[in-house]
Amino acid sequence: MIDDPYRDVELVELYDLDNPGGEDHAYYRALADAIDARSILDLGCGTGLLTRSLAGPGRTVIGVDPSGTMLDYARRQPGSESVTWIHSDASAITGNGTVDLAVCTGNAIMHVSPEELPSTLTSLAAAMRSGGTLSFESRNPACRGWERWTPEATYGERVTPVGRLREWLDVTDVRAGRVVFDAHNVFPDGEDRVYTSILFFRTAEELQRELGLAGFTEIAWTGDWHGTPIEDRSPFYVFRARRA
Ligand SMILES: C[S@@+](CC[C@H](N)C(=O)[O-])C[C@H]1O[C@@H](n2cnc3c(N)ncnc32)[C@H](O)[C@@H]1O
Repeated sequence: MIDDPYRDVELVELYDLDNPGGEDHAYYRALADAIDARSILDLGCGTGLLTRSLAGPGRTVIGVDPSGTMLDYARRQPGSESVTWIHSDASAITGNGTVDLAVCTGNAIMHVSPEELPSTLTSLAAAMRSGGTLSFESRNPACRGWERWTPEATYGERVTPVGRLREWLDVTDVRAGRVVFDAHNVFPDGEDRVYTSILFFRTAEELQRELGLAGFTEIAWTGDWHGTPIEDRSPFYVFRARRA
């Protein structure tokens, strides 16, 4: 277990500016509409930008996240009262079998360790109704994206609402799909706040197997948000599966 990499209050204030949502959010919203989801669960909801946009009349939406800083931010945003927020990982999800759509967005599933993945997927399955849909994205290990996360390639300087920042990433360990990297954030006073993340890159077949074991069926994946078949160079897959 590592410390929460999203625990910096000032950097969390920047998260939605840096990750405003685009095709990904449009895909998840369209999916919710297409299946007429009345009950939606967003695991790893973070700041809740997408979560809040999924809420609407006749819908219940639950956002779950283990980062207290991310969730506190989510709770302070306009429209947050339309969502039930749960500060936890998947272990706190109650298995009432009513959820129509479960999502896990922004590659949040990649934070879940191999030890946690089976119970995480089982908790999601228990919360969902039979025939309910699960969807999430995960980076494609064949693309080896971490090789481009060098200090030189990722270095940037910018003016932000919390001051002028210098930022870069530094990968410190890569082993069997487990990628450890430090995110450096140098504030105007010279302080370098370093946050370590561990991401688990999984092949589509690994995810397919874990989903099957957890009780999902009709498991399919594409190489983008528009249904394009996966290729080696697709940076991520978009998964869809149904609760058996
Ligand atoms: C990159 S952020 C994505 C946030 C949001 N879903 C989005 O699309 O912007 C990853 C999120 O996963 C959460 N997370 C980390 N470990 C987790 C776990 N074991 N289960 C669920 N979520 C987790 C983090 O706290 C963080 O909020």
